[in-house]
Amino acid sequence: MTMEKSFNVAVVGATGAVGQQILKVLEDRNFPVRQLKPLASARSAGKTVQFQGKKYVVEEATPDAFKGVDIALFSAGGSVSKKLVPEAVKRGAVCVDNTNAFRMEPDVPLVVPEVNADKIFEHEGLIANPNCSTIQMVAALKPIKDRYGINRIIVSTYQAVSGAGYEAMEECLRQTRAVLDNEPVNPDILPVGSLPRKHQIAFNAVPQIDVFEENDFTREEMKMVNETKKIFDDQNIKVSATCVRLPVITGHSEAVYVETDEDFDVNDVRNLLREAPGIVVQDNPAEQEYPLATDAAGKLDVFVGRIRRDVENPRGLHLWVVSDNLLKGAAWNTVQIAEHLITKM
Ligand code: A2P
Repeated sequence: MTMEKSFNVAVVGATGAVGQQILKVLEDRNFPVRQLKPLASARSAGKTVQFQGKKYVVEEATPDAFKGVDIALFSAGGSVSKKLVPEAVKRGAVCVDNTNAFRMEPDVPLVVPEVNADKIFEHEGLIANPNCSTIQMVAALKPIKDRYGINRIIVSTYQAVSGAGYEAMEECLRQTRAVLDNEPVNPDILPVGSLPRKHQIAFNAVPQIDVFEENDFTREEMKMVNETKKIFDDQNIKVSATCVRLPVITGHSEAVYVETDEDFDVNDVRNLLREAPGIVVQDNPAEQEYPLATDAAGKLDVFVGRIRRDVENPRGLHLWVVSDNLLKGAAWNTVQIAEHLITKM
């Protein structure tokens, strides 16, 4: 971006898995940062982070840390956002929040720019960034929904451990080494840090991301249901999800099945997706070409392949959707929202 104006930007959770990516994306995109304020917990105060070749000292995230901040990008967990987003807004900052804290509040826009960028400017100081697995799915489905209508989505996810933060990434690597060395695995964090029961992630597939709700779906699965309806502004669309954690470090993959309202042509779907912003089609079965998490890691786009008509239902469409969960799923979507915001600041 090249702009004459520049902005004071706070990154809350700057030492974390997503916060670090936010710093990198701000830098890569040449976001007009006048002053950067990296914030984290008291444990990190005094540590430094790198930005544009310089070291910045991390400060503790407190209400007064937001004085003079124009834009605050939050990625330090829901409880931190609940406490500090209102304080930041009170001090005049516009916030983009990566956590679950405010996403479903009716007056908080929930935005994936490729789908509903127009909602950004309805904000009252806060815009919510959706859940990572929802972002990549709705970005891929938007052109299909606009052209053919979608009445049903059934999705199974294959999610990377980085979605659960640095400690979960380290746990996956540590357990992998332990298994190879024939040593005890000692699960410590996954599937959910705050719950007592732990499961091995190395060489495994764990069908639990976040806590269970009363209907026996997990919170992650219900985020996909509720957030998709809100982002598409369509309470009638039927969504169900099964979310699974895999020992993949970066990149969420999703098997998505949709039922359309109108008849579709599979080649037209491919072309539609090729033209869609932020989407890259990788779909050539003859050449074994399809999206892979290892290829998507480090990239901003959403990759779509395995595009095919259902065997039984002529209006059923299957897709394989992959994206870097820390980038389009978190940091990039956040910075993208901020890029839109500053066009009117
Ligand atoms: P810290 O490094 O000081 O713990 P991850 O998702 O990789 O686990 O990172 C979480 C991020 O949220 C880190 O930057 C972490 O900072 C930050 N964080 C955690 N608890 C708090 C808190 N109470 N106040 C501010 N930042 C926090």
